[in-house]
Formats: sequence, structure tokens, C-alpha cells
Amino acid sequence: MAKVEPFPFPNEIYPEDWFSRLAREDLFPGDGPIELDLGCGDGSFLARMAQHYPERNFLGVERLLGRVRKVSRKSIMSHSTNVRVLRVDSNYAVGWLLPLGFASRIHFLCPDPWPKKKHANRRQMCRIDFLAALHSLLVDDGELLFMTDDEPYFLEALEAQKGCDFFVREPWEEGDFFYARTDFEEQWLAAGRTMHRLRLRKLPRS
Ligand SMILES: C[S@@+](CC[C@H](N)C(=O)[O-])C[C@H]1O[C@@H](n2cnc3c(N)ncnc32)[C@H](O)[C@@H]1O
Repeated sequence: MAKVEPFPFPNEIYPEDWFSRLAREDLFPGDGPIELDLGCGDGSFLARMAQHYPERNFLGVERLLGRVRKVSRKSIMSHSTNVRVLRVDSNYAVGWLLPLGFASRIHFLCPDPWPKKKHANRRQMCRIDFLAALHSLLVDDGELLFMTDDEPYFLEALEAQKGCDFFVREPWEEGDFFYARTDFEEQWLAAGRTMHRLRLRKLPRS
């Protein structure tokens, strides 16, 4: 069982047991769809999505406390009950903590590109083990949405995805469906950069 702390941080989740997977009901009450935002930053995307889709739930995972608190403050100010945030490393959350088969969509937006060769293992979208772990968190037919301004990271992620037979690529152009802008996306667009998008749908594993 996880405990949700009372005011002033009602939207932050503090697991009582960090060594077992949480249950779906530890994250949100009811059975509305849950979407996961990995490395959610200041929560701009979560807040906008939660307002647009009040019937859905949005869970952010973020390792920096200052950013977690920004998510909290935004949720309190907008009286959002469909946003929660978990302060933990995303590798640990995905591999060990989050429930299996709980997420209707996983958003992985503008992650740090880690361009140095020695940091290649930190480019999570290029790791088959990470993609397999994300696959296990999704409901049947669930989707993984990845966006970056970094072309080398994008091309490497495309290559990695070709090597896994448990996701299929779906079309995704800007404006195909409502998709809130993220804080970093706004910054990159203002700097004249292009966003690259990859939308993957879960296939059953053979
Ligand atoms: C470049 S920012 C993008 C934030 C947000 N997704 C956006 O598009 O505005 C990357 C975020 O991921 C977080 N982050 C990086 N590695 C992480 C990890 N291993 N676990 C959890 N959060 C991580 C960083 O702290 C940062 O807030």
C-alpha cells in the first residue's frame, strides 16, 4: 500500500514499500485510464493534459525534488485530482516499482539526449531492455509516445525500435490529436528547433 501525504503535497505518492510493485489502486482511485509521463520536469505537460482530459489520470515520474514540487504546486493551484507524481529514478520505477499492465499511454518527452559515447546506456529509448520494461507496464494496445529535438537520439531510437518485435510504429504528426506542449518543447521550438516524434503501439509478445 502506498500512502498519499496530506496537504501541502496531496499529489505526491510515497510508497510504504519501495521493494515491491505498487498496485494500480495505489496510484489513483477508480478505473479511469492512467497515463505515465517519465521525466515529467515541471509538470507543464501533465497539468495541460489533465485539464483537457479530466476523465483520465496522469502520473509523473521525476527524480529532482524541485521539479516534483512544481508539479505539486500546479496540481494544487488548478485543483487537479487526476495528477500525481512520484519522486524516483525512472529506471527503478519502470523496472521495479510501477504496476505491470497499468498504463494506457507512456509519454517520454524531451529526455536528456546524453550525446557522449560513454553515456550511451543513459539513452533509454535505445535500450531494448528498457523498451521491454515499458511494454510490460502498458495495457494491451497501449502506446508509447517519444519526442525529442535531438536528431541523433531520434535516429538511434528508431533503429532500436526496429530490433524489437513487440511494438509497431503508428503515424504521429503534430495536430493528429490533442497533445499538450511540454516545457522543454516550448523552449526548443522558440529556439527554432524541430521536434521528432515516435508513436509505438504495444503488440503481444511472441
Ligand atoms: C530535459 S527535461 C524534460 C522535462 C519534460 N519532459 C519536458 O519535456 O519539459 C528531462 C527531465 O527528466 C528528468 N530525468 C532525467 N533522468 C531521469 C531519471 N533517470 N529518472 C527520473 N527523471 C529523470 C530530469 O530531472 C528532467 O526533469
